[in-house]
Amino acid sequence: MPAETKTETYARLKREIDAVLEGERNQTARYTTAACLLSEAFDHYYWTGFYVVDPEDPAQLVVGPYQGTLGCLRIPVGKGVCGTAAERRETVIVADVEAFPGHIACDSRTRSEIVTPVMDAGGRVAAVLDVDSTDPDAFDAEDRAGLEAICAGLLNA
Ligand code: SME
Repeated sequence: MPAETKTETYARLKREIDAVLEGERNQTARYTTAACLLSEAFDHYYWTGFYVVDPEDPAQLVVGPYQGTLGCLRIPVGKGVCGTAAERRETVIVADVEAFPGHIACDSRTRSEIVTPVMDAGGRVAAVLDVDSTDPDAFDAEDRAGLEAICAGLLNA
């Protein structure tokens, strides 16, 4: 059987994540399960996890469920790649983190990253999904489409 393409893997993962999470209302359980399944699926992932908008201070993201090395605890909205994606309310792909002004280096092995917002029904950002790679230029339009589709189903409305 030919190997799955990346787009096919994302489609399969979305089905798996949606099936496992069906009926689960706890948001931590939802984010944790998605981070686990995503991080196991792809070799180009190094750090996979969520930064959630702090309910006590919506100008800050606070670390949520993740798989990987120690992540920074807090990122101001507007700072770093995560904060930029939250502020713009759109996916940000950074091919070379050293060329991104204000990049926050939680782990110096990270070379490239993709950050996709998780939006609520009102179009507000609830969290961002941050995936980092030790390879430069590891993420492309297929990762963006796959992660945006998965994030669209993650919030327990
Ligand atoms: N690189 C991210 C910070 C988070 S971690 O690397 C886990 C950023 O600039 O938003």
